[in-house]
Amino acid sequence: MEKINIAVAGCGDIAHIRYFNAISQLTDKFNLIGVHDRCPEVCSSTAREFQVPGYDKLEDLLALEELDTLIVTTYHPSHAQIAIAAMEAGKNVIIEKPFATSAKDAKLVRQAAERTGKLCMALPFEIYPPFVEAKRIIDQGLIGKVASADAMFAHQGPLHAPWFFDREKADWGVLADLGIYPISILSYLFGSIKAVSGKVECLTKDRVSLKGEAFTSSVEDNVAAVLEWESGVVATVRSNWCTAADKNGCIYSINVYGSKGILYINMLTHQLIMYSPNAPVEGAKKISYLGFDESYLIDIKEYDDHLDILNAFYEARMAGGTIRDDGCNMDRQVNIIEAIEKLYEASATGYKMDIM
Ligand SMILES: NC(=O)c1ccc[n+]([C@@H]2O[C@H](COP(=O)([O-])OP(=O)(O)OC[C@H]3O[C@@H](n4cnc5c(N)ncnc54)[C@H](O)[C@@H]3O)[C@@H](O)[C@H]2O)c1
Repeated sequence: MEKINIAVAGCGDIAHIRYFNAISQLTDKFNLIGVHDRCPEVCSSTAREFQVPGYDKLEDLLALEELDTLIVTTYHPSHAQIAIAAMEAGKNVIIEKPFATSAKDAKLVRQAAERTGKLCMALPFEIYPPFVEAKRIIDQGLIGKVASADAMFAHQGPLHAPWFFDREKADWGVLADLGIYPISILSYLFGSIKAVSGKVECLTKDRVSLKGEAFTSSVEDNVAAVLEWESGVVATVRSNWCTAADKNGCIYSINVYGSKGILYINMLTHQLIMYSPNAPVEGAKKISYLGFDESYLIDIKEYDDHLDILNAFYEARMAGGTIRDDGCNMDRQVNIIEAIEKLYEASATGYKMDIM
Protein backbone atom coordinates (compact mmCIF):
# COMPACT_ATOMS: atom_id res chain seq x y z
CA MET A 1 0.00 0.00 0.00
CA GLU A 2 1.41 3.39 -0.98
CA LYS A 3 2.16 5.66 1.98
CA ILE A 4 1.71 9.42 2.06
CA ASN A 5 4.51 11.43 3.65
CA ILE A 6 2.74 13.94 5.83
CA ALA A 7 3.66 16.82 8.18
CA VAL A 8 1.78 19.04 10.60
CA ALA A 9 2.00 22.84 10.97
CA GLY A 10 0.62 23.98 14.35
CA CYS A 11 1.18 21.40 17.09
CA GLY A 12 -1.56 22.20 19.60
CA ASP A 13 -4.82 20.66 20.78
CA ILE A 14 -6.41 19.45 17.55
CA ALA A 15 -3.08 18.38 16.04
CA HIS A 16 -2.76 15.95 18.95
CA ILE A 17 -6.41 14.90 19.44
CA ARG A 18 -7.08 14.38 15.76
CA TYR A 19 -4.03 14.18 13.51
CA PHE A 20 -1.10 12.69 15.43
CA ASN A 21 -3.52 10.21 16.93
CA ALA A 22 -5.03 9.23 13.56
CA ILE A 23 -1.65 9.08 11.78
CA SER A 24 -0.38 6.72 14.46
CA GLN A 25 -3.37 4.44 13.81
CA LEU A 26 -3.09 4.59 10.02
CA THR A 27 0.56 3.63 9.66
CA ASP A 28 -0.18 1.70 6.45
CA LYS A 29 -1.36 4.95 4.83
CA PHE A 30 0.59 7.81 6.40
CA ASN A 31 4.15 8.43 7.42
CA LEU A 32 4.74 11.46 9.67
CA ILE A 33 7.98 13.06 8.48
CA GLY A 34 8.08 16.39 10.30
CA VAL A 35 6.36 19.03 12.39
CA HIS A 36 6.37 22.80 12.51
CA ASP A 37 5.19 25.28 15.13
CA ARG A 38 6.08 28.93 15.41
CA CYS A 39 6.67 28.39 19.11
CA PRO A 40 10.16 26.77 19.27
CA GLU A 41 9.45 24.93 22.55
CA VAL A 42 6.23 23.41 21.20
CA CYS A 43 8.01 22.52 17.94
CA SER A 44 10.90 20.73 19.65
CA SER A 45 8.76 18.96 22.27
CA THR A 46 6.36 17.69 19.58
CA ALA A 47 9.29 16.58 17.42
CA ARG A 48 10.66 14.65 20.40
CA GLU A 49 7.24 13.19 21.18
CA PHE A 50 6.89 11.69 17.71
CA GLN A 51 10.58 11.13 16.96
CA VAL A 52 10.53 13.22 13.80
CA PRO A 53 12.45 16.38 12.81
CA GLY A 54 10.97 19.67 14.03
CA TYR A 55 11.18 22.68 11.72
CA ASP A 56 11.15 26.15 13.27
CA LYS A 57 10.75 27.63 9.79
CA LEU A 58 7.80 26.58 7.65
CA GLU A 59 9.79 27.13 4.44
CA ASP A 60 12.36 24.51 5.54
CA LEU A 61 9.59 21.95 5.99
CA LEU A 62 7.98 22.88 2.67
CA ALA A 63 11.35 22.54 0.92
CA LEU A 64 11.42 18.79 1.67
CA GLU A 65 11.16 16.99 -1.65
CA GLU A 66 9.66 13.90 0.02
CA LEU A 67 6.84 15.82 1.72
CA ASP A 68 3.51 15.09 0.02
CA THR A 69 0.89 16.65 2.30
CA LEU A 70 0.76 19.35 4.94
CA ILE A 71 -1.91 19.47 7.65
CA VAL A 72 -2.61 23.06 8.75
CA THR A 73 -3.70 23.37 12.39
CA THR A 74 -2.46 26.85 13.32
CA TYR A 75 -4.57 29.85 14.46
CA HIS A 76 -7.46 30.56 12.07
CA PRO A 77 -6.15 33.70 10.29
CA SER A 78 -2.95 31.93 9.18
CA HIS A 79 -4.65 28.91 7.57
CA ALA A 80 -5.13 30.40 4.11
CA GLN A 81 -1.62 31.82 3.80
CA ILE A 82 0.09 28.63 5.00
CA ALA A 83 -2.07 26.44 2.75
CA ILE A 84 -1.32 28.61 -0.29
CA ALA A 85 2.42 28.54 0.45
CA ALA A 86 2.26 24.75 0.77
CA MET A 87 0.38 24.28 -2.51
CA GLU A 88 2.77 26.67 -4.28
CA ALA A 89 5.59 24.46 -2.96
CA GLY A 90 3.91 21.46 -4.59
CA LYS A 91 2.27 19.97 -1.49
CA ASN A 92 -1.30 18.78 -0.96
CA VAL A 93 -3.11 20.22 2.05
CA ILE A 94 -5.64 19.38 4.73
CA ILE A 95 -6.75 22.67 6.31
CA GLU A 96 -8.56 22.81 9.64
CA LYS A 97 -11.65 24.97 9.83
CA PRO A 98 -12.11 27.80 9.17
CA PHE A 99 -9.85 27.46 6.13
CA ALA A 100 -10.00 31.26 5.72
CA THR A 101 -11.41 34.18 7.69
CA SER A 102 -12.43 36.28 4.68
CA ALA A 103 -14.11 35.54 1.37
CA LYS A 104 -11.07 37.08 -0.35
CA ASP A 105 -8.67 34.60 1.29
CA ALA A 106 -11.07 31.71 0.68
CA LYS A 107 -11.07 32.48 -3.03
CA LEU A 108 -7.26 32.76 -3.06
CA VAL A 109 -7.02 29.27 -1.55
CA ARG A 110 -9.42 27.92 -4.19
CA GLN A 111 -7.39 29.63 -6.94
CA ALA A 112 -4.14 28.18 -5.57
CA ALA A 113 -5.68 24.69 -5.61
CA GLU A 114 -6.85 25.17 -9.20
CA ARG A 115 -3.55 26.69 -10.33
CA THR A 116 -1.33 24.04 -8.75
CA GLY A 117 -3.66 21.06 -9.24
CA LYS A 118 -3.00 20.01 -5.64
CA LEU A 119 -5.59 18.24 -3.48
CA CYS A 120 -6.98 20.81 -1.06
CA MET A 121 -9.22 19.40 1.67
CA ALA A 122 -10.71 22.40 3.43
CA LEU A 123 -12.65 21.39 6.56
CA PRO A 124 -15.31 21.05 7.98
CA PHE A 125 -15.71 17.49 6.75
CA GLU A 126 -19.32 16.51 6.12
CA ILE A 127 -19.08 12.91 4.92
CA TYR A 128 -20.02 11.27 8.20
CA PRO A 129 -22.68 8.52 8.02
CA PRO A 130 -25.52 10.50 9.76
CA PHE A 131 -25.17 13.37 7.27
CA VAL A 132 -24.72 11.12 4.22
CA GLU A 133 -27.81 9.13 5.22
CA ALA A 134 -29.80 12.30 5.98
CA LYS A 135 -28.90 13.65 2.54
CA ARG A 136 -29.99 10.40 0.86
CA ILE A 137 -33.34 10.51 2.70
CA ILE A 138 -33.89 14.17 1.75
CA ASP A 139 -32.79 13.72 -1.89
CA GLN A 140 -35.03 10.66 -2.33
CA GLY A 141 -38.00 12.69 -1.09
CA LEU A 142 -38.61 10.36 1.86
CA ILE A 143 -39.54 13.26 4.17
CA GLY A 144 -41.41 15.05 1.39
CA LYS A 145 -40.84 18.66 0.49
CA VAL A 146 -38.42 20.31 2.88
CA ALA A 147 -39.36 23.79 4.03
CA SER A 148 -37.02 24.43 6.90
CA ALA A 149 -34.30 23.24 9.23
CA ASP A 150 -32.82 24.33 12.48
CA ALA A 151 -29.34 23.71 13.74
CA MET A 152 -27.61 24.31 17.04
CA PHE A 153 -24.00 23.96 18.15
CA ALA A 154 -23.00 25.27 21.57
CA HIS A 155 -20.76 24.75 24.57
CA GLN A 156 -18.95 26.86 27.15
CA GLY A 157 -16.15 27.82 24.75
CA PRO A 158 -12.64 26.60 23.85
CA LEU A 159 -11.27 27.56 27.25
CA HIS A 160 -8.08 25.54 26.65
CA ALA A 161 -6.87 28.36 24.36
CA PRO A 162 -7.85 31.98 25.18
CA TRP A 163 -6.59 33.15 21.76
CA PHE A 164 -9.91 31.90 20.30
CA PHE A 165 -11.52 34.84 22.17
CA ASP A 166 -9.06 37.47 20.91
CA ARG A 167 -10.13 39.30 17.73
CA GLU A 168 -6.49 40.21 16.94
CA LYS A 169 -5.42 36.57 16.98
CA ALA A 170 -8.55 34.78 15.79
CA ASP A 171 -10.41 37.22 13.49
CA TRP A 172 -13.66 35.36 14.12
CA GLY A 173 -15.19 34.01 17.34
CA VAL A 174 -17.81 31.31 17.86
CA LEU A 175 -18.66 31.34 14.15
CA ALA A 176 -15.15 30.08 13.33
CA ASP A 177 -15.18 27.55 16.14
CA LEU A 178 -18.72 26.13 16.20
CA GLY A 179 -21.14 27.98 13.91
CA ILE A 180 -19.21 26.93 10.83
CA TYR A 181 -20.12 23.25 11.40
CA PRO A 182 -23.92 23.48 11.12
CA ILE A 183 -23.55 25.99 8.28
CA SER A 184 -21.33 23.50 6.46
CA ILE A 185 -23.72 20.59 7.07
CA LEU A 186 -26.72 22.58 5.90
CA SER A 187 -24.83 23.53 2.73
CA TYR A 188 -24.01 19.84 2.20
CA LEU A 189 -27.71 18.98 2.55
CA PHE A 190 -29.18 21.87 0.54
CA GLY A 191 -26.38 23.33 -1.61
CA SER A 192 -24.90 26.82 -1.74
CA ILE A 193 -26.43 29.40 0.58
CA LYS A 194 -28.06 32.36 -1.16
CA ALA A 195 -28.76 34.85 1.65
CA VAL A 196 -28.11 35.40 5.35
CA SER A 197 -29.41 37.57 8.15
CA GLY A 198 -29.11 37.47 11.92
CA LYS A 199 -27.53 38.68 15.10
CA VAL A 200 -23.91 38.27 16.15
CA GLU A 201 -22.90 39.54 19.60
CA CYS A 202 -20.45 39.21 22.45
CA LEU A 203 -22.45 38.38 25.57
CA THR A 204 -19.81 37.23 28.07
CA LYS A 205 -16.68 39.36 27.98
CA ASP A 206 -15.13 38.25 31.27
CA ARG A 207 -13.87 34.70 31.00
CA VAL A 208 -11.62 32.27 32.86
CA SER A 209 -9.44 29.76 31.01
CA LEU A 210 -9.18 26.08 31.94
CA LYS A 211 -5.87 27.00 33.60
CA GLY A 212 -7.73 29.48 35.82
CA GLU A 213 -6.47 32.65 34.08
CA ALA A 214 -8.94 35.53 33.73
CA PHE A 215 -9.15 37.18 30.31
CA THR A 216 -11.44 39.45 28.30
CA SER A 217 -13.18 38.29 25.13
CA SER A 218 -13.27 40.57 22.08
CA VAL A 219 -15.12 38.26 19.68
CA GLU A 220 -18.72 37.15 19.23
CA ASP A 221 -19.91 34.34 21.47
CA ASN A 222 -23.63 34.30 20.69
CA VAL A 223 -25.13 33.99 17.22
CA ALA A 224 -28.60 33.45 15.76
CA ALA A 225 -28.73 33.36 11.98
CA VAL A 226 -31.26 32.72 9.23
CA LEU A 227 -29.92 31.10 6.06
CA GLU A 228 -31.83 30.91 2.79
CA TRP A 229 -31.57 28.74 -0.31
CA GLU A 230 -32.76 29.25 -3.90
CA SER A 231 -35.16 26.29 -3.41
CA GLY A 232 -37.04 28.21 -0.72
CA VAL A 233 -35.58 26.26 2.20
CA VAL A 234 -34.99 28.50 5.22
CA ALA A 235 -32.86 27.40 8.19
CA THR A 236 -31.97 28.87 11.53
CA VAL A 237 -28.50 28.37 12.96
CA ARG A 238 -27.76 29.13 16.59
CA SER A 239 -24.31 28.88 18.00
CA ASN A 240 -22.81 30.09 21.23
CA TRP A 241 -20.07 29.75 23.82
CA CYS A 242 -22.54 30.53 26.60
CA THR A 243 -24.06 27.10 27.23
CA ALA A 244 -23.48 24.80 30.20
CA ALA A 245 -21.67 22.04 28.33
CA ASP A 246 -18.01 21.36 27.80
CA LYS A 247 -16.19 20.84 24.51
CA ASN A 248 -16.69 17.08 24.69
CA GLY A 249 -20.36 17.10 25.67
CA CYS A 250 -21.66 19.91 23.53
CA ILE A 251 -25.15 20.60 22.24
CA TYR A 252 -24.98 19.74 18.55
CA SER A 253 -28.10 18.96 16.54
CA ILE A 254 -29.72 19.53 13.18
CA ASN A 255 -33.43 19.05 12.55
CA VAL A 256 -34.90 19.02 9.05
CA TYR A 257 -38.65 19.49 8.59
CA GLY A 258 -40.41 17.95 5.57
CA SER A 259 -44.04 17.63 4.51
CA LYS A 260 -44.00 13.86 5.14
CA GLY A 261 -41.51 13.54 7.97
CA ILE A 262 -38.86 15.08 10.18
CA LEU A 263 -35.19 14.20 10.52
CA TYR A 264 -33.39 14.67 13.83
CA ILE A 265 -29.60 14.46 13.68
CA ASN A 266 -28.06 14.41 17.14
CA MET A 267 -24.28 14.64 16.93
CA LEU A 268 -23.79 14.17 20.67
CA THR A 269 -25.46 10.77 20.69
CA HIS A 270 -24.53 10.10 17.03
CA GLN A 271 -28.14 9.24 16.25
CA LEU A 272 -30.30 9.82 13.22
CA ILE A 273 -34.04 9.66 13.95
CA MET A 274 -36.86 10.03 11.48
CA TYR A 275 -40.44 10.85 12.35
CA SER A 276 -42.51 9.21 9.63
CA PRO A 277 -46.24 9.11 10.47
CA ASN A 278 -47.41 7.71 7.12
CA ALA A 279 -44.91 4.98 6.28
CA PRO A 280 -42.60 2.75 8.30
CA VAL A 281 -38.89 3.26 7.67
CA GLU A 282 -37.42 0.08 6.29
CA GLY A 283 -34.65 -1.44 8.40
CA ALA A 284 -35.10 1.11 11.20
CA LYS A 285 -36.19 0.46 14.78
CA LYS A 286 -39.52 2.02 15.76
CA ILE A 287 -39.20 4.19 18.85
CA SER A 288 -40.99 6.99 20.64
CA TYR A 289 -39.11 10.27 20.24
CA LEU A 290 -40.12 13.66 21.66
CA GLY A 291 -43.58 12.22 22.26
CA PHE A 292 -44.00 10.99 18.67
CA ASP A 293 -44.65 7.23 18.50
CA GLU A 294 -44.16 7.01 14.75
CA SER A 295 -40.42 7.67 15.01
CA TYR A 296 -37.62 5.45 13.73
CA LEU A 297 -34.01 5.08 14.83
CA ILE A 298 -32.06 4.73 11.61
CA ASP A 299 -29.22 2.28 11.52
CA ILE A 300 -26.10 4.19 10.59
CA LYS A 301 -22.62 2.85 10.07
CA GLU A 302 -20.12 3.34 12.88
CA TYR A 303 -17.69 6.14 12.26
CA ASP A 304 -14.76 7.96 13.76
CA ASP A 305 -14.67 11.77 13.56
CA HIS A 306 -10.89 11.80 13.18
CA LEU A 307 -9.97 8.69 11.20
CA ASP A 308 -12.71 9.31 8.63
CA ILE A 309 -11.11 12.61 7.62
CA LEU A 310 -7.71 11.08 6.95
CA ASN A 311 -9.20 7.99 5.30
CA ALA A 312 -11.28 10.15 2.93
CA PHE A 313 -8.21 12.25 2.13
CA TYR A 314 -6.12 9.12 1.46
CA GLU A 315 -8.80 7.66 -0.82
CA ALA A 316 -9.03 10.90 -2.84
CA ARG A 317 -5.24 11.28 -3.02
CA MET A 318 -4.79 7.72 -4.28
CA ALA A 319 -7.59 8.13 -6.83
CA GLY A 320 -6.15 11.47 -7.96
CA GLY A 321 -9.55 13.09 -7.47
CA THR A 322 -11.52 15.07 -4.93
CA ILE A 323 -13.11 14.01 -1.64
CA ARG A 324 -15.94 11.53 -2.28
CA ASP A 325 -19.66 12.33 -2.22
CA ASP A 326 -19.13 16.08 -2.67
CA GLY A 327 -17.34 16.31 0.68
CA CYS A 328 -15.25 19.45 1.29
CA ASN A 329 -16.25 20.73 -2.16
CA MET A 330 -14.14 23.89 -2.63
CA ASP A 331 -16.95 25.95 -4.17
CA ARG A 332 -19.24 25.10 -1.28
CA GLN A 333 -16.47 25.74 1.25
CA VAL A 334 -15.90 29.21 -0.25
CA ASN A 335 -19.66 29.82 -0.06
CA ILE A 336 -19.61 28.93 3.67
CA ILE A 337 -16.88 31.50 4.36
CA GLU A 338 -18.82 34.08 2.32
CA ALA A 339 -21.97 33.31 4.32
CA ILE A 340 -20.13 33.89 7.61
CA GLU A 341 -18.58 37.13 6.38
CA LYS A 342 -22.00 38.36 5.19
CA LEU A 343 -23.57 37.39 8.50
CA TYR A 344 -21.33 39.88 10.34
CA GLU A 345 -22.42 42.52 7.82
CA ALA A 346 -26.09 41.58 8.19
CA SER A 347 -25.87 41.83 11.96
CA ALA A 348 -24.12 45.20 11.83
CA THR A 349 -26.56 46.72 9.32
CA GLY A 350 -29.79 44.92 10.22
CA TYR A 351 -30.25 43.96 6.56
CA LYS A 352 -30.48 40.58 4.90
CA MET A 353 -27.37 40.04 2.75
CA ASP A 354 -27.35 38.17 -0.57
CA ILE A 355 -24.42 35.96 -1.47
CA MET A 356 -23.51 36.42 -5.13
N1 LIG B 1 -9.20 22.18 19.42
C1 LIG B 1 -10.20 21.63 18.73
O1 LIG B 1 -11.00 20.82 19.25
C2 LIG B 1 -10.37 21.95 17.27
C3 LIG B 1 -11.27 21.18 16.53
C4 LIG B 1 -11.39 21.40 15.17
C5 LIG B 1 -10.64 22.40 14.58
N2 LIG B 1 -9.78 23.17 15.29
C6 LIG B 1 -9.05 24.25 14.61
O2 LIG B 1 -7.65 24.00 14.67
C7 LIG B 1 -6.94 25.23 14.81
C8 LIG B 1 -6.03 25.11 16.02
O3 LIG B 1 -6.81 24.95 17.17
P1 LIG B 1 -6.20 24.33 18.52
O4 LIG B 1 -7.32 24.17 19.45
O5 LIG B 1 -5.37 23.16 18.19
O6 LIG B 1 -5.27 25.54 19.00
P2 LIG B 1 -4.00 25.46 19.95
O7 LIG B 1 -3.78 26.82 20.50
O8 LIG B 1 -4.13 24.34 20.91
O9 LIG B 1 -2.80 25.08 18.94
C9 LIG B 1 -2.41 25.92 17.88
C10 LIG B 1 -0.89 25.75 17.65
O10 LIG B 1 -0.55 26.43 16.44
C11 LIG B 1 0.63 27.23 16.65
N3 LIG B 1 0.55 28.34 15.70
C12 LIG B 1 -0.36 29.34 15.68
N4 LIG B 1 -0.20 30.14 14.61
C13 LIG B 1 0.89 29.64 13.93
C14 LIG B 1 1.55 30.00 12.72
N5 LIG B 1 1.17 31.05 12.00
N6 LIG B 1 2.59 29.24 12.31
C15 LIG B 1 2.99 28.16 13.05
N7 LIG B 1 2.40 27.76 14.19
C16 LIG B 1 1.35 28.48 14.62
C17 LIG B 1 0.56 27.65 18.11
O11 LIG B 1 1.86 27.97 18.60
C18 LIG B 1 -0.04 26.40 18.77
O12 LIG B 1 0.94 25.49 19.20
C19 LIG B 1 -7.99 26.33 14.94
O13 LIG B 1 -8.11 27.02 13.72
C20 LIG B 1 -9.28 25.60 15.27
O14 LIG B 1 -10.43 26.24 14.74
C21 LIG B 1 -9.61 22.96 16.64
